[in-house]
Amino acid sequence: MVAYKSKMVEQISLPSSAQRERNLEEAGYNVFNLAAEDVFIDLLTDSGTGTMSDDQWAALIRGDEAYAGSRSFDRLESAVADVMGFERVVPTHQGRGAENVLYGTLLSEGDVALNNTHFDTTRAHVANQGADPVDCPVSEAHDPEADEPFKGNFSLDRARSVVDEVGAERVPLVILTITNNSAAGQPVSVANTRRVREFADEIDATFVIDACRFAENAAFVTRREDEFADADVSSVAREQLGYADAVVMSGKKDGLVNVGGFVATDDEDLFEECKQRAILYEGFPTYGGMAGRDLAAMAVGLREAVDEAYVADRIEGVRRLGSRLAEAGVPVYEPTGGHAVYLDASAAFPHIPDEAFPGQALVCELYREGGVRGVELGSFAFPETDRPELVRLAVPRRTYHREHFDHVVETAAAALEERDAVSGYEIASEPSVPELRHFTATLEPRSS
Ligand code: F0G
Repeated sequence: MVAYKSKMVEQISLPSSAQRERNLEEAGYNVFNLAAEDVFIDLLTDSGTGTMSDDQWAALIRGDEAYAGSRSFDRLESAVADVMGFERVVPTHQGRGAENVLYGTLLSEGDVALNNTHFDTTRAHVANQGADPVDCPVSEAHDPEADEPFKGNFSLDRARSVVDEVGAERVPLVILTITNNSAAGQPVSVANTRRVREFADEIDATFVIDACRFAENAAFVTRREDEFADADVSSVAREQLGYADAVVMSGKKDGLVNVGGFVATDDEDLFEECKQRAILYEGFPTYGGMAGRDLAAMAVGLREAVDEAYVADRIEGVRRLGSRLAEAGVPVYEPTGGHAVYLDASAAFPHIPDEAFPGQALVCELYREGGVRGVELGSFAFPETDRPELVRLAVPRRTYHREHFDHVVETAAAALEERDAVSGYEIASEPSVPELRHFTATLEPRSS
């Protein structure tokens, strides 16, 4: 059931079909290069694109902009303690700032970091320390049809085989990403989290949770994990996060803000080290790359994110979009994740081989057909990793409503009707950092 109403609106419009075609060509068939005003329904990301509440806007006006000792930082500290259970907070400008601070502190050249699945910025930050990011997803994570409740889980078997191969001393860091964004936004169970904690203890590694979407994950736990059937979302969130030594957070997701992030921990030594590194890269530890007003809005947003009515509406809205797409004949990764519907591009365009980027072809068709912007998360975004050819339709929080989703469903169905006319793409230019290529590379249609 919907848990809010609108009080401010932003005009959107659908460019003509000829204009969309021109826009796509000028963007080098990479939708990151499109102007946002040329996009009708923007499902590129759920990150920083949501709508703030009236309480958040009120907090924004009362933000304390002091360089040191800001009252807004105190508010954030108490929100993190109440909602996430950690006493020490190092604010950063966004999630990747937190990754730089924490992983720069924990990793050295030659180390290995294990993760259920590294998100692209996480992978790049681990690699930037000279360390090796190794994914340990469960086998069903990459099966778009497996009907399992926790396809985001961390595979202990895979992790143990990596440790057997490289030696425990090379693995100082184990990360659990909840929900597992690069594995179709699938949740991670609390039981799995406990086992990861034990495993990290066995190999004497630091256990970090990437908590970007912790509230959505907790909502899935209350619905799918028997032990927590009667628990509330906020207590599950605290319990699950409590197994970690530290969390990295992008406030742009379940902080319900447009910018911001932090590292949080109860480990005093780790806190001190992170604080020093944060001063270098982010700012003084009571603002850390954010304006006081942004700290204040995030303090309110974190509390709203674990509100039962909000989070139920959130995951139900995404689930409904997924099932409507499936009913319209669009191949959808099952079950639908927390923040996005992932489309199975190989099933949508079976005639396009992986090396011609079927996911990118689908992304281009969604824009061409209806001005809808999604993002490819297959072999274009993740070269040389073995994963399905997915397209993510990420849903900004509290922003789009039923009519918008009607348009998305109609657009996707229409794009598939024309599938035989679609050929794949090849890369025309690419940047030097392979982990980040999908942001700025350009493509051109392959002649069929
Ligand atoms: N970790 C995960 C799991 C993420 O999904 C993201 C961002 C980050 C870290 C980095 O946070 O953007 O605040 O610097 N994900 C966005 C996305 C960009 O579209 O999924 P950030």
